[in-house]
This record gives sequence, structure tokens and C-alpha cells, in this order.
Amino acid sequence: MCGIIGYIGKKQAMPILMDGLRKESYRGYDSSGIVVFDAQNNATCLKAVGKLENLENKIQGQELKGEIGIGHVRWATHGEVTETNAHPHTGCQENIFVVHNGIIENYREIREKLIEKGHKFVSETDTEVVAHLVEHFFDGNLEDAVRKALKLVKGAYALAVVAKEDPNKIVVAKLSSPLIIGIGKDEYLVASDQNAIAPYAKKIITLEDNEVVTITPDDLCIIKEREPEDLEIETGKTEKGKYPHFMLKEIMEQADSIEMPLKGRVRFDQGLAKLGGLDQVSDKLKDIERINIVACGTAYLAGLTAEYMLEEYAGIPCEVDFGSEFRYRKPILNKKTVVLAISQSGETADTLAGIKEAKEKGVMTLGIVNAVGSTIARETDAGIYNHAGPEIGVASTKAFTSQLTVLALLALFLGRQRQMSLITGQNIARELLNIPALIRELLKSEAKIKELAEKYKNYKNFFFIGRKYNFPIACEGALKLKEISYIHAEGYSGGEMKHGPIALIDESFPTIALCPSDSVYEKMVSNIEEIKARKGPVIAIATEGNEKIKELVDDVIYIPKTLEMLTPILSVIPLQLFAYYTGVLNKCDVDKPRNLAKSVTVE
Ligand code: M6R
Repeated sequence: MCGIIGYIGKKQAMPILMDGLRKESYRGYDSSGIVVFDAQNNATCLKAVGKLENLENKIQGQELKGEIGIGHVRWATHGEVTETNAHPHTGCQENIFVVHNGIIENYREIREKLIEKGHKFVSETDTEVVAHLVEHFFDGNLEDAVRKALKLVKGAYALAVVAKEDPNKIVVAKLSSPLIIGIGKDEYLVASDQNAIAPYAKKIITLEDNEVVTITPDDLCIIKEREPEDLEIETGKTEKGKYPHFMLKEIMEQADSIEMPLKGRVRFDQGLAKLGGLDQVSDKLKDIERINIVACGTAYLAGLTAEYMLEEYAGIPCEVDFGSEFRYRKPILNKKTVVLAISQSGETADTLAGIKEAKEKGVMTLGIVNAVGSTIARETDAGIYNHAGPEIGVASTKAFTSQLTVLALLALFLGRQRQMSLITGQNIARELLNIPALIRELLKSEAKIKELAEKYKNYKNFFFIGRKYNFPIACEGALKLKEISYIHAEGYSGGEMKHGPIALIDESFPTIALCPSDSVYEKMVSNIEEIKARKGPVIAIATEGNEKIKELVDDVIYIPKTLEMLTPILSVIPLQLFAYYTGVLNKCDVDKPRNLAKSVTVE
């Protein structure tokens, strides 16, 4: 989603801005732009639709010299993907330039009032009103004008603003959307995430909500003084290496990305999970009576899987909500409730809104987050990092399996605080430690899954079905397929098919059925029979050694045997590979699927 970058210092701004935009481009974008001020305060603003290379091409041959500038990658929310709608936006006088991440909810109202005052708008965006509003209040002091403008604005924003007539400064402000200031040697940077400024800054200041800060080449004017923190970036390679796509690389490295969250956290002898991030709240957790999980997309489906784990093994009632729904349904929370956010990026606005709701109600909050130092990691009372390494592909793969792993550790941790026996604890610990080896084994079926993708790639619809622990995995398989290959897919509980969806089944509508040898295997077999009776093609995901299933279905992918609770970590992998190869064979941009953003920072 949108990414902001800014530079002020003694170096040429343009290459640093472009480098930052490149690093923020993984978030998902559809256009980009920069503005650079030269020594005489002349502004050069360039924008382009599509890939960043298009902006780079425009820059080539331009005299883009200057030591101050701001830039932006845009993911369209208000207005189509056009150059005019790309940021930076400016007012009528072309004095003020603004880049923005977030949504100005009352922009129509402000726009109408400004039009009445004679302002002329050129774009369809919500952001343009900020440029005109700042221009309206500007009397030589940019910070004052920004403050006055923001008093009228409703919604969410991270902003960087520059003005020709109040030169040598960048004014930044934030409400609900992330923004950091990087502190270099005689220079400052502004960015939406830490990776964008890692080569230039070792210390950062994370802006707080409602802060407005003026940055000059020599100083930061922060009202609420605080010590800069160390810049923390995720370790791990961000190159594709031998793989054609990040998605495939991230699928294939899951044995390692699962080993990482297990490292040092599993105590087999004691049948325990040692979760350092929970130390400070460990006693309080002994008394909790309910867990409300908030998350979005794939992380939500990890949450749904955790509901089964936590209820079965820790005996704690659990509810799972989409971040976007949680606060609107007025959840009943009390002092014995924990609200647990699950988020790869740690920046998902909807999930963050759930955390804010819980904090307002005085409820303890926990986070399971992959991106170190992200907003959700900072806003929650305590938490557990995934340590899965950077996930660049927009489709979440290795982050999902590491979320399942951490959630299994949490179930073990909470279970052992309660009634769980040493033997059960040891059993979970042993099986968890064995999962990376099983994944290495399972990944050897890559070629077979590619063949299946070839066979099924032209079907227009798919069902994914599963029960109990594998019901959320069916939903995840469907989500992966639709986001990567744009093929219509639905995830259902196997038992629910006969209550409606089975009406769609015929020979043109295949089903991928998750039927490992577990406590609901026989039930799944009946559900598969119902589909076969209606001539629906079926691919089964079954446990190694189950030869019988071949008699019933069209194709089988085998997964190794493990504890039922941990099966999802294995069963999702063939679904990820199936989605990947179907997308590739259908010539889709699997690492950056259309319309999607890696980091969804607007509500
Ligand atoms: O960064 P988060 O884990 O909070 O992101 C949540 C969802 O936006 C994300 O999982 C999304 O559904 C992915 N595209 C799934 O592949």
C-alpha cells in the first residue's frame, strides 16, 4: 500500500528517494512520484503510472539536483490509477507539495468548501484537499499551516509536506498511519517503514498519533522529547536467489522459517514452550478466561486455526474476528480477556484498530507479528515475534506457517499453565520440533503439484473443503488461488457443502479436499463421496500411506503424518504450491497480484 519517503541533508536527494521507493514497492503500488527542491528552491515534480522503472525513465535526462525532496508509491483508493492522481499533490500556486498515506474521510466536504473559495482541483484523490487546505492557511510558516489544516481533517494520515516559500524543511504528521524519521549523519529521512531507510539511518524516531514535526537539515523540532530508538530491520535475504519468484522462494524456505520461531522456545524435557516475549504478562495470563483474536486475510485464517488449538489444548474459549469487524460488533471484553492480534506486517490498519479498541477498554493485548519494530509490535502489551524473515511476495506463505507454529507454541504455553499434562506437553513439543524435517520431505512433491496445476489450470471455479483444523486451511487454499491466479475459489467446511454450495458441483467444478488421517477423516470421506456422486473432480490432500483414498478421488497429494493440531502447517503447503503454479501457468504476476498490497495500512 502507499509508501512515503523523504530526505533532507547534504546529499543529493533523488537517488536516496528512489532507493527508498524501491524498498517500499513490495508493499504494493500502482503509480509513483517525487518532488525535489534545488538550491534556489525550484521544485521539480515527476510522476508515473505503473512500475517504478517508468518513473526512473522520466527522471533520466532531467536535472533533478537538490538536497531536499519527498516521494511516494501510491496504491489507489480514491480515484483511478493515473498520473494526475499520483502523489505528490500540490495546491493552485504549486507552492505546497504533499505525499500522504491513509484516507481523508471528509475530503468531499472540505473540497466543496475550498472550491467555493476559488480553489481548483485537478485530481480525484482525497489527498489533494490537504495540499489545498495547507495552501489556504499558509502565510509563510509551513508548520502552522499544516497544524491548522489537520484540525479540519478527519480520517487517517501519514503526511510529508514541503513548501517553496518556507524552504529547507519537511513538515511531517501522523494519525493512525505509520511514519518514522530516520536520523543519519547530518541528514534526516522520513519513511513508512524501516527497511526503506536502513542504509542511511541507524536511529529512528517513530512518530506518535497527532504529532506534527518540522525537520530541517540540522534539527528536529519534536514537542514530546524522547530518545531515538535503534533501527531494527528484519534479518534475512530479500533477494530471490535461484528462484524465479519470491513466492516460490518463500514457499520453499518454510522448513527454515519454521525452525526459527521454534529455536530456543521448545523445552522438550519439561514439555513447555518458553516465550520470552510473554514473560512480563505470564502471571496475568494464568487468570485469563477468554481470548479474542483479531486479524485479517491469511492471518485471520491462522487465527481460526488457533481457535481449535487453544480450545482443545489450553481449554480457553476463543473468538476470532476480522480486524475490520471487531470493534463494530461491540465485543464484550473484560479484565479476564486478552485481545490477540496476528499480523505479518504489524501495520494492518484494521487489526491495529482492534488493538486500539481493546486498549481503550483496558484489556490486555498481545501480538504475533513478523515485522520487528512494527506498529502492532509496539502497541501491544506483549507478544511473540515470528522470526520468519522478510516476506516479500504479496501472498502470505511462510508467514502463515510460522503464525501457525507460534500459535501452537502459545497453546502449549497456556495449556501447561493450566490442565495440560507433562506427557501431552512433551508430545506437542516433540512433534513441533519434527515439523521442519517433515516439510523438507513434503516439498519434494513440488514437481507432482506442478503437474496437477498443469492439468487443472483451465478450470474456472474451485472448491476447497476441510473440517476442524483443516477447515481454515481450505479457506486459505481458496484465498491463495484467487489472489494469485484470479480463479474463483471458495473455501468451505466439508460438512457445510450439502447445505447449499453442492448445488454448484458438476464435472466442470473441481474440489480440493483436505482429508488427512485425523479425527474427522471418515466425515471428510462422506463429503467427498457426495461430491463424486455429482461428478465433481476431486484432488485429495491425504496422509502418506492412505492408498484407499485413490479409489475415490481423481488425484492425491500426500502429506506426512503428524499430530492433528499441527497438520495445517503441512497441509497448506501443497495448496500454496498449487496456487503458485496455477498462477505462473496462467501468466499472472504472482509476486505482485493485481489490486493487492502487501501492507494494508488503510481501514
Ligand atoms: O500483514 P498482515 O498479516 O496483517 O496482513 C493481513 C492480510 O492483509 C494478508 O494476510 C493478506 O490476506 C495476504 N494477501 C494473504 O496472502
